[in-house]
Amino acid sequence: MTQISGSPLDENSYVLETRALRAYYRMKYFGIDREVRAVDGISMHVRKNEIYGIAGESSCGKTTFIKAIAAAIRPPLEIVAGHVNYNFINNDLYALPSKERSAIRWRHLSYILQGSMNVLNPVRRIHKTFEDFAFRHMHMGRSEFEQEVKRHLERLRLPAEILRAYPHELSGGMRQRVCIALATLCKPEFIIADEPTTALDVVVQKDVLAMIRETQSEFGSSMIFVTHDLAVHANITDRLGIMYAGRLVEEGRTADVFSNPMHPYTAHLIASLPRIGDIHPRNALTGSPPSLADPPKGCRFHPRCPLAMEICRHENPALTTLAEDHRVACFAASATVQPTSDEKPQHPEALETVR
Ligand SMILES: Nc1ncnc2c1ncn2[C@@H]1O[C@H](COP(=O)(O)OP(=O)(O)O)[C@@H](O)[C@H]1O
Ligand code: SF4
Ligand SMILES: [Mg+2]
Repeated sequence: MTQISGSPLDENSYVLETRALRAYYRMKYFGIDREVRAVDGISMHVRKNEIYGIAGESSCGKTTFIKAIAAAIRPPLEIVAGHVNYNFINNDLYALPSKERSAIRWRHLSYILQGSMNVLNPVRRIHKTFEDFAFRHMHMGRSEFEQEVKRHLERLRLPAEILRAYPHELSGGMRQRVCIALATLCKPEFIIADEPTTALDVVVQKDVLAMIRETQSEFGSSMIFVTHDLAVHANITDRLGIMYAGRLVEEGRTADVFSNPMHPYTAHLIASLPRIGDIHPRNALTGSPPSLADPPKGCRFHPRCPLAMEICRHENPALTTLAEDHRVACFAASATVQPTSDEKPQHPEALETVR
């Protein structure tokens, strides 16, 4: 793994920092090497007590990024470059021996995933799952642990009876609440949530989001919250990162990203959101996201971008701070490149629709 030098993590304000992180799926098919560049150079940080959202279309690399920061790397996925630093380990995650890495899971770093059945064992009662995941991290006797679990459920307004239930005896919404209880029992510094409400109906989703928000603020945890659903981001996240084809293309305070999207892709996502009473047809983007096994050169959005210029085909725009707490990777949005007469946007009228 390439080590990248830089200043150490500012542990007073950052809980997680990734630097130039690259995670690729590397496979061999009939003797031919194939590489899917699912996370391709992501540098970002998550601050104390904040919920940082990650949005982007399906297959843009959101879950792979989550796997990379959670040290949940299994072949064919490899970390090929970059750093993942947490303030509670005071070291690069991948510099730790694997035993130490697994010791931080659940105690310092926990997950809420989309399918609760990925976590809850269908043939074990819920209290057994609590024991399996958390008992060894809590450093207390068994009866004290059971009391602590009950106190925690009470705090989260969950009935203690669920501990005797099997997962299939609970509704989908209740199972997801149990997963939130499980993820927060050890009061971890960092919680990773990957599409945690995607499988739930809208009313249950609202309650579960409220529970996540309350729990996060009560325990002061920081969180990365991944969902393709921008309406959920508007509801729960403090800052928002937009991914496209393995890269972060825009990042800012959620309210700023919604009110002033600077990247054409973000602008398109936000313009596509349904609005009550608005019957105007939405402009669709042409084309589809690129294959990450053979992504286009330069800006990966250029084959679909209404503002694409010549430079966009050859150079990758850096994620650049263009306003306070607002970073964007786009030549058209950035003042660093002024289009020459040969580099005028191909479809200038599109400026009106995406800005
Ligand atoms: N186990 C795997 N082997 C090979 N490619 C994979 C694997 N898992 C995911 N990918 C590929 O990595 C890319 C990113 O996927 P993923 O991180 O799951 O995206 P998202 O969570 O945004 O939908 C996709 O092109 C996907 O096909
Ligand atoms: S203008 Fe160029 S750099 Fe900006 S999103 Fe479009 S193709 Fe990418
Ligand atoms: Mg995913």
